[in-house]
Amino acid sequence: MEGKTTRISPADIDRQREFCDKIQEAWAARPSQPLAYVDTYGCQQNEADSERIRGYLTAMGCGFTDDEKAADVIVINTCAIREHAEDRVFGNVGALVHAKRAHPGQIICLCGCMAQEPRVAEKLRQSYRHVDLVFGPHALWKFPELLYRVVSRRGRVFETTDEAGSIAEGIPLSRQDGVKAWVSIMYGCNNFCTYCIVPYVRGRERSRLPEDVLAEIRALVEEGYKDITLLGQNVNSYGKDLGLDMDFADLLEKIEAIPGDFLIRFMTSHPKDASQKLFEVMGKSRKIAPVFHLPVQAGNDRVLKAMNRVYTREEYLDKVRRLREQVPDIVLTSDIIVGFPGETTPEFEDTLSLIEEVRFDALFTFIFSPREGTPAASMEDPMPMEEKKANFQRLVDAQNAISAEKHAAYIGRRLRCLVDGVGEEMGYPLVARTPGNRLVRLENGEECLVGSFREVEITGANTWSLTGRLV
Ligand code: SAH
Ligand code: SF4
Ligand code: F3S
Repeated sequence: MEGKTTRISPADIDRQREFCDKIQEAWAARPSQPLAYVDTYGCQQNEADSERIRGYLTAMGCGFTDDEKAADVIVINTCAIREHAEDRVFGNVGALVHAKRAHPGQIICLCGCMAQEPRVAEKLRQSYRHVDLVFGPHALWKFPELLYRVVSRRGRVFETTDEAGSIAEGIPLSRQDGVKAWVSIMYGCNNFCTYCIVPYVRGRERSRLPEDVLAEIRALVEEGYKDITLLGQNVNSYGKDLGLDMDFADLLEKIEAIPGDFLIRFMTSHPKDASQKLFEVMGKSRKIAPVFHLPVQAGNDRVLKAMNRVYTREEYLDKVRRLREQVPDIVLTSDIIVGFPGETTPEFEDTLSLIEEVRFDALFTFIFSPREGTPAASMEDPMPMEEKKANFQRLVDAQNAISAEKHAAYIGRRLRCLVDGVGEEMGYPLVARTPGNRLVRLENGEECLVGSFREVEITGANTWSLTGRLV
């Protein structure tokens, strides 16, 4: 879908708050506070969207529960990235029939990326009749209005129109954490990697205005947030649509200038837009965390081309070299797809050699999953699943060895870590994060330290995490 970004006016959001009030009135006669259950799948974008949904639900007077049977409103915020994600959602939504039978007044809503797929919306319409409200990411800003239509008994509501996308400021937010916060800086994606559904369900790239982003971050820092992650499918192309003289690196510098002791992270970056200017800004920075998630997807040029990634292996390696020149201590992570249609085992081995060459700190690895409507879904895909799985296992084994070695090298180091929660394992009362976002289980410390930066000596390591002591 082509077209221009719609900016939702403050008056439109005020109207949504009025719908929140109307719903609250409609529910006022209930014997107890209405309860909502919000279940989130997928990436941080969806986590951030669920904070908006919870913000609206709070404005409607709802409390929250983790028990779907006790809930008056269920909201399932879905992900469409791989078939497995969709299957889980369909399984869980199907099972909600029983919760609803026990609680006939219950309202079940399904939103997020799956809702924006015509095939899914149709399936929900026909076969999941206990779902009352279906709306895609484009309609999230008017959730109260849609829910009010259901509450005032006008039947099932489907709001899944495709559009280029909008930007809405001022939606109430209910954040899940007091230390870490997500801040969306842009929405959508223009890259159309041939395997990926995101551009179809999230619309075109559009950036929030810098003053809105900066005001939100200033407020978060004043509230005591210490770890702020800027979100977008491709944050490196921030600002290109705004026609202002401001790119992502400039935005980071402006955020850095906000007074306060806090860390800035961002995700995700497309290698094609990761610029030397950005690396230099990171090199000079005291607040940008030394961590970079730079999805490579594959190590073979033919496969990269078929994926429409528009960089070569050599160009990727060159970016990594230049990034490490500016930020020698950088923690590097990446995403890889194994078994892209037509990928041969020798081509896959180029991915193996790339990860040996780069030595990422961690990888997110996926087996290709065909997504209807994307070009890759109709490409020849002759490799048997068995062989894909064997290649996948080789990749995971190789990376685990690298991660374990990299973690072992932390032992004995002292690092300024952010204590970000209480531990769930015996003998480790707290958990913390290194500047590069590695998980550290702390052997000592009191709960009151959560939310503070502390010197930690690293005492142990495994493939996934570190252990340490407060000094
Ligand atoms: N915008 C981000 C990625 C979003 S999706 C970026 O470009 O880096 C997260 C990861 O899911 C992708 O990096 C890719 O590795 C994986 N992925 C996306 N579509 C997929 C598919 N159809 N099958 C398997 N993995 C996929
Ligand atoms: Fe998907 Fe590619 Fe866009 Fe990432 S950059 S969201 S992988 S299309
Ligand atoms: Fe999934 Fe949508 Fe994120 S498809 S990965 S929730 S953008």
